[in-house]
Amino acid sequence: MDGRALAERVRAEVADEVAELGGASLATVLVGDDPASEIYIRHKHTAATAAGIRTDDKRLPATTTEDEVLTLVAELNADDGIDGILVQTPLPAHIDESRVMRALDPVKDVDGLHPFNAGQLLLGQPTFVGATPLGVMRMLDEYGVPVAGARAVVIGRSVIVGRPLALLLLHANATVTICHTRTVDLRAHTVEADILVAAVGRPGVVTADMVKAGAAVVDVGITRTDAGLVGDVDSAVAEVAGLVTPVPGGVGPMTIAMLLRNTVLAARYRRGRLAFPAH
Ligand SMILES: NC(=O)c1ccc[n+]([C@@H]2O[C@H](COP(=O)([O-])OP(=O)(O)OC[C@H]3O[C@@H](n4cnc5c(N)ncnc54)[C@H](OP(=O)(O)O)[C@@H]3O)[C@@H](O)[C@H]2O)c1
Repeated sequence: MDGRALAERVRAEVADEVAELGGASLATVLVGDDPASEIYIRHKHTAATAAGIRTDDKRLPATTTEDEVLTLVAELNADDGIDGILVQTPLPAHIDESRVMRALDPVKDVDGLHPFNAGQLLLGQPTFVGATPLGVMRMLDEYGVPVAGARAVVIGRSVIVGRPLALLLLHANATVTICHTRTVDLRAHTVEADILVAAVGRPGVVTADMVKAGAAVVDVGITRTDAGLVGDVDSAVAEVAGLVTPVPGGVGPMTIAMLLRNTVLAARYRRGRLAFPAH
C-alpha cells in the first residue's frame, strides 16, 4: 500500500479546500530538542505550507516548566488567528502530558488528545481523531480492504495510535483484538488477523510465520537505524500478506496528510461551517 502516492493526493485535496476556505492555520509546540520530534515538526511545517496552511512554530527549551507550557497553550487557544494546535509528544518527563492536552481548546485539538475528543471517539461520534489512525483507515479504504466483519488485530495500545485505531476499526464493524506487552502468545492472535496493524516501535515484532495468507498488514512502527528507517514488520511478510505498507513511504506520509486534513476540519469548525458539539 503506497502511502506516499495517496498522501500526495490527500494533500492536493487539502490545498483546494484551504483555498476555498480562504486560509487555515496550524500552530505546533515543540518542547526540548528530541531529534526525531524536530524532523517530524519540520515535515509537518513543510507540508502545511505547501498546502497553503499558515504555520506558527513555537519552540521551548527542555528546561521549560509545565506552567510555562500551559501559558503558551492558553495564548494559542485565545489567538483567533490559529485554527489548529499540535503539541508534539513526547514532552520532557517533568511535564504532565495529559494535563497539557486537557488545557487545549477542544475545537483546536487536531491530534484528538483532549479527553473531550478522545471521548467522542469512544462514543462513536468522532470529532478530531489522531492523524495516524485516520491515515491507516484511509489507506485500507483506498486499497479496498474489507473492514466490516474482518478480524483486525492491533499490536500496541498507545493513546496516539493503537487505541484510537482499534476504535475506528470497531466503529467500521471489524472484530478487534488489541495486543500489548502482556499479551500471552502474540502469534496465536496475529495468525487469525485479516487486518494486522503493528504500532510498537520494535523491528521484527511481526515475522512471516505470524501472518495469515492474504492479510492486509499495516506497519506503523518507525525505528531509526544506521541503515535508515525500519518498521516493525519483517520484509519476508510481503511474501505471505496480500497487502503491506512499506517503511518509509507507508503510514508516515499519510500521518502528515491527515494532520493537514484535521487542520482544515478545525478551520471549518471555527468558521461555523460545521457544528462542533457543545462541550
Ligand atoms: N508512521 C507514523 O506516522 C507514526 C506515528 C506515530 C507513531 N509511529 C511509530 O509507531 C510506533 C508506536 O508508536 P506509539 O507512540 O504508539 O508507541 P508507544 O507509546 O511506545 O506504544 C507501543 C505499544 O507497543 C506495545 N509493545 C511494545 N513491545 C511489544 C511487544 N514485544 N509485543 C507486543 N506489544 C508490544 C506496548 O505495550 P504496553 O502498552 O504493554 O507497554 C505499547 O502499547 C513507534 O515506532 C512510533 O515511532 C509512527
